[in-house]
Amino acid sequence: MIPPVFRRIVLVGFMGAGKTSVGEQLSSRLGWRFVDLDEELVARSGLSIDDWFDAFGEAAFRKEEAALARELLASSDLVLASGGGWAVEPDRLVELPPGTLSVWLDVGVEEAVRRVQKSSVSRPLLRGKAPENEARRLLEARWSAYAEAQIRVDTNGQSVEDVTSRILEILENEGTRTAAE
Ligand code: S3P
Repeated sequence: MIPPVFRRIVLVGFMGAGKTSVGEQLSSRLGWRFVDLDEELVARSGLSIDDWFDAFGEAAFRKEEAALARELLASSDLVLASGGGWAVEPDRLVELPPGTLSVWLDVGVEEAVRRVQKSSVSRPLLRGKAPENEARRLLEARWSAYAEAQIRVDTNGQSVEDVTSRILEILENEGTRTAAE
């Protein structure tokens, strides 16, 4: 059972960390609603993520994703898969609404790039000729922001099922610890 102190979970981490796949599975095991921030933004605006970056630039995209996340995080019984840049804004994970558990899905550069290249979703930030170099640069710059999450789960070499079960296991232990405090 998830401790009642948590009413929603936000998954953060780099592109290719598995936020969408793990989020879908986690939400179904909890019986909660699942929303992928990028997919919701695309559905509401009718523009792909590539379109957002190409037509309006990254800053406009960041503003839009921030507003949408703020709205979604006001609801309960929700697993939200954020986009890889969402958690990177200053204090983003420090200022979450009470009852929100932040989970960092950690992934190494090589595995992240491998997963992104296999995916059908285009990542405008990794469209260049040397995606691995760009991923390394971005991940180094973002690492400390992701590390602000309450929980870190290593996803390297792990299946979606493994990662989901690990999160649920940590949640159960957290609940026991919180109750005993
Ligand atoms: C981005 C990650 C993407 C998407 C956009 C920008 C980033 O989401 O929001 O391409 O800045 O890391 P995923 O993490 O779901 O790939």
